[in-house]
Amino acid sequence: MSISLTKLNSAVTLVTALFFTSCQETPRVSGPIENRVDSLLALMTLEEKVGQLTLFTSDNDVTGPTIRENYKGDIKAGRVGAIFNAFGADYTRKLQEIAVKETRLGIPLLFGYDVIHGHRTIFPMPLAEAASWDLEAIEKSARTAADEASAEGLHWTFAPMCDVCRDPRWGRIVEGAGEDVYLGSKIAVARVKGFQGNGIGELNSVIACVKHFAAYGASQAGRDYHTTDMSDRVLREVYLPPYKAAIDAGAATVMTSFNEIDGMPATGNKYLMTDILRKEWNFNGFVVTDYTSIMEMIAHGVAEDTSAAAALAIEAGVDMDMQAGFFNDALVTLVKDGKVKETLIDEAARRILKTKYELGLFNDPYRYSNPERQKETVMKPEFLEASRDVARKSIVLLKNDKQLLPLSKNIKRLAVIGPLANARKEMIGSWSGAGDWNKAVTLLEGIKAGVSPSTQVLYAKGCNINDDSTNLFAQAIQTARQADVVVLAVGEGAWMSGEAASRASLDLPGVQQKLVEEIQKTGKPIIVTLMNGRPLTINWIDKNIPAVLECWFLGTQSGHAIADVLFGNYNPSGKLPVTFPRSVGQIPIFYSMKNTGRPMDPNNKYTSKYLDESNDPLYPFGYGLSYTSFEYGDLALSLPSMTSGDELVVSCKVTNTGKYAGEEVVQLYVCDKVGSVTRPVKELKGFQKISLQPGDSKNVEFKITNNDLSFYRKDMSFGSEPGAFVVFVGGNSREGKKGEFVLR
Ligand code: BGC
Repeated sequence: MSISLTKLNSAVTLVTALFFTSCQETPRVSGPIENRVDSLLALMTLEEKVGQLTLFTSDNDVTGPTIRENYKGDIKAGRVGAIFNAFGADYTRKLQEIAVKETRLGIPLLFGYDVIHGHRTIFPMPLAEAASWDLEAIEKSARTAADEASAEGLHWTFAPMCDVCRDPRWGRIVEGAGEDVYLGSKIAVARVKGFQGNGIGELNSVIACVKHFAAYGASQAGRDYHTTDMSDRVLREVYLPPYKAAIDAGAATVMTSFNEIDGMPATGNKYLMTDILRKEWNFNGFVVTDYTSIMEMIAHGVAEDTSAAAALAIEAGVDMDMQAGFFNDALVTLVKDGKVKETLIDEAARRILKTKYELGLFNDPYRYSNPERQKETVMKPEFLEASRDVARKSIVLLKNDKQLLPLSKNIKRLAVIGPLANARKEMIGSWSGAGDWNKAVTLLEGIKAGVSPSTQVLYAKGCNINDDSTNLFAQAIQTARQADVVVLAVGEGAWMSGEAASRASLDLPGVQQKLVEEIQKTGKPIIVTLMNGRPLTINWIDKNIPAVLECWFLGTQSGHAIADVLFGNYNPSGKLPVTFPRSVGQIPIFYSMKNTGRPMDPNNKYTSKYLDESNDPLYPFGYGLSYTSFEYGDLALSLPSMTSGDELVVSCKVTNTGKYAGEEVVQLYVCDKVGSVTRPVKELKGFQKISLQPGDSKNVEFKITNNDLSFYRKDMSFGSEPGAFVVFVGGNSREGKKGEFVLR
């Protein structure tokens, strides 16, 4: 196709000439990016612009129906602006060459991928990392992932997932930071900073994608792809802040969610994408849909056909169609028929092209596809070390009766039992990108590497993760009997959490509970190492097993990290980022609940409680033990009362009263006693991870400002209200020292 000269207005003639002299190679134009985008847009046909609004998968890793198989043909025809699930310096270069050399304008492709918790070197699942409460470690994890991914030709990761989730039945809880607004927001920022590094366009950075906008974590009944329904107040107070924090941290893109909200699928939801995201939050990156979610608006029942769905999405504020192909199929005709304004297409194309310029792709479309850099970067020893470090920081000690842990490295005979004890494939968890499970270290291997040469390590699988055969029980019981101590690895398969992995039961799957009971009957000291992507209901284990470690899925270095904790090379410091219920019937259960008009009173039937279950969780949010103990002194408040302009300092002396050096996550919670609308019983407003030698103390200080006391008031304005507040400082959301102050 030749270029119609009538398209060139005088203002862009010079730039255009420059552009086309080099377009077969690498288009180069200078000046502010906005001008370069405008000059390019002026050259583009409507079809080419719509092509930029389209994202198709390559042949790898698809999570849903592949609509287009001939994606190479699509690239050639200029019908696609971005490709996902394609990585590797050589592969991305080949695809890029088609776009640059074989299309009329040579516009480079953008390559995206789900780099969720590491690219090749796999780090702990996001929920596990959240348990570290270590923002530096989390940022480092994302930084490492960006380093590796960008060295394999990738420009864009579909992360972080910022969905607050209070329902562990939802398998995707594993991809986020748990139940809390404040912790979730801090972690969202750390992840964006890690992925985007020193800025978009740096060679070792990838652009972040905040997902799934919005409120996907509140899918009804924990069922994936399901409806969410909530008040605007809850949406704004609980679900939106982590997305907003990520956007304020500079995240370049946003992904819509599969769910509907208030009767409108997120992908057609103008209130979310235009009113909130663009107008209120001034987001100026681009919005991509989730996988085929424009198409899914037909099944949702808000669009009759392809055209209606495409129109709904573009008008609501979607810029890029992931995988449905509906923009390609319908937008040109919709514009030509006068049903959709061409300016909307221009706006969307402008945002996408701007990002490509920012990434430096118009200067050198192959800059991220460098095989040498790939070779030097991928799975460097220092990355493996970083992954091991984050992994051990993510482990939570749930129980440790009589200081059974840490174990001596000189135990004579140690039995490692359970379906997850030597389960290499499971270690890297779900959404493990380009990670190779063959390179993962199992618990058995980690233990063997961690003990003294004289220790005999025995192993028995005991049963499979999720079937009903007890054939291997006898051998496992026999193995336990021979040992001095048993490490019992039970939990879920990696595939049991993540997308399309909702569960109605949170018990150990298959016959694992029975296995635990049989091994316990041997009377041997047992440490349960749980591996799972969500809170499980483990009441029996909590009651009958002396030591329990929550090990999640910790990535490539799993086995070494767990062994580090078992043998005391690392003193566990993780705290739960999500409440562990006693039974599924308690869900949703989270610490920042409302008080109700009839708070639980065990002696009064007509109060808010169950007949057959306690209101209390098994383990509360923020909970986690250490091999040492910490004592919290009384709180000191710098002022008895404050005004909205003041800063109140709450301080608390924390002492390591045990035998080991250790880290503690000191948590600050606030309760607004009376508001114009009801307020949660507690809300996390600060935390600090401190490190103390035995016998040492530290005075931990938190500053409280008006913003920490603000909320959506009765009239939905955001601000504080005068009155009494309670503050708590402690090692979890259930216990803490208390203080009170007044906001005047
Ligand atoms: C998931 C997204 C993911 C996308 C691309 C979808 O099914 O919901 O989180 O980024 O697939 O792989």
